[in-house]
Parts: sequence; C-alpha cells; structure tokens
Amino acid sequence: IFKNATDASIVVAHEIATLIQTKQKESKNCVLGLATGSSPVKVYEELVRMHKEEGLSFHNVITFNLDEYYPMTKENNQSYHYFMHEHLFNHIDIKPENINIPDGTVAIDEINQYCIDYEMSIKTVGGLDFQLLGIGRTGHIGFNEPGSHVNSGTRIITLDHVTRSDASSAFNGISNVPKKAITMGVSTVLKSKRIVLLAWGENKADVITTTIQGEISSDIPATFLQNHNNTTFILDVFAASQLT
Ligand code: F6R
Repeated sequence: IFKNATDASIVVAHEIATLIQTKQKESKNCVLGLATGSSPVKVYEELVRMHKEEGLSFHNVITFNLDEYYPMTKENNQSYHYFMHEHLFNHIDIKPENINIPDGTVAIDEINQYCIDYEMSIKTVGGLDFQLLGIGRTGHIGFNEPGSHVNSGTRIITLDHVTRSDASSAFNGISNVPKKAITMGVSTVLKSKRIVLLAWGENKADVITTTIQGEISSDIPATFLQNHNNTTFILDVFAASQLT
C-alpha cells in the first residue's frame, strides 16, 4: 500500500526493468503481459524515462496485451492498439514484430481460431514472465467479466454494463462504447509466472476488498488471483481504504 500512485508505479516499473535486464544477462527473451487503462499509465511513463535517461533496452522484450475492444480499428484513438503505442511502444526500442495486441478487426467467423492462435503464440515463446493488471469495478481482470470461468482462455466476450458505463466518457457516451472485446482468459493470466495488479482511488476500494477478502468465485473473476502463488496487489491508500 502506497501513499500515491506515482510512488507505487515507480516501484512496479523498476521490478519490470530488473526482470528485463536479468533476462538480458541470460540472453533470454522477457515476455510481458500488458494492460491498458488509467492504472498502468505511470508505470509506462517511468519505463519510457528509464529507456531515455538510463538506457534501459527492450530489444529482448516480447509483449502480449490483455485485450482490445471489438470491433475496433487500430487507428481509432480509443483502441488499445493506439493507447499502447502512445504511452509506451512509440518511445522505446521494442521490435515491432515482438508486439502482440488482440486485433479488433478480425472477421467474426475467424475470431475463435484467432484466439486459439493468440494463446498458442504466448505458449510458443515460453509463457508470460510477468503480467501487469488493472481491475474493473465488476471485478474483471483483462475483460474477464463476472461469470468468466477459471479455465477460460483468450476469447470474445460481452462487456458488462458497468464496464461500458465506466468507459462512456472516453467514448463520448455509452452508446459509442463497443459491446464486445477480445480478452486473454483467466487461465491465460493465471499461467503467468508473476502477476502485479494495480488499483488506485476510492472507486476501486469496494472491488479491492471483495477481491482480497471475499470468497473465490467467478462472480468476481479477480478473486481467482487468490490461488496464484506469485501475485502482488499494489494499491494506493484510497483503493486500500476498506481492507480490514
Ligand atoms: C485493460 C484491462 C482492464 C482495466 C480495468 C481498469 O487492458 O484489461 O481490465 O485494467 O478496466 O481500468 P482503469 O485502469 O482505467 O481503471
């Protein structure tokens, strides 16, 4: 629990940087699962700073983003593709071919195979070394909304009304928020060797309390993290304010 999101984000960015550098010394790739949204913005800011000022290189980094709205073009400035390039990829030396973000333009009848392939690409590079997560007020991680099975893999899902309403200001009204998304599954996330979940602000306090102190249930998919053996929740005092 940190005083503020800035201090906390710097600690998380440094953990990621250390992992990347450790893997570099071993001549290995570092496979990162990444999130979008407001929570990780300062982590990406610090990673960009470390690249520019301290020479942190991303040449051995392979990334897989958690999710993308569906349908959604890459050029749309609401897309997670756009977000990731704006906040991270445009400012670092990652190889473009090492960036993986679910494609919101895949034809509907090709999505199932696309999701199987996405899952397989993660496996092929040895699985996720580190997964960065935010949490939605529904208890979603990625876009695994309530009802998501612990064994779920990458797939197309229908967004919860609460999630769409939280996104509505960015889209200029809820009617413009896509109804669906492609997301990594709960099991995709849980297979990561290390997981760090970020939550800031009072409006996350309820879901953080239920996630950490409540029963494990697909009603709050983030509760499945309780069974993961290497997960840390990084909170500010406001998100932690209802923990007992
Ligand atoms: C985004 C994602 C979502 C967000 C969550 C919290 O890639 O997977 O689970 O992490 O909706 O969003 P923010 O950080 O905007 O509160």
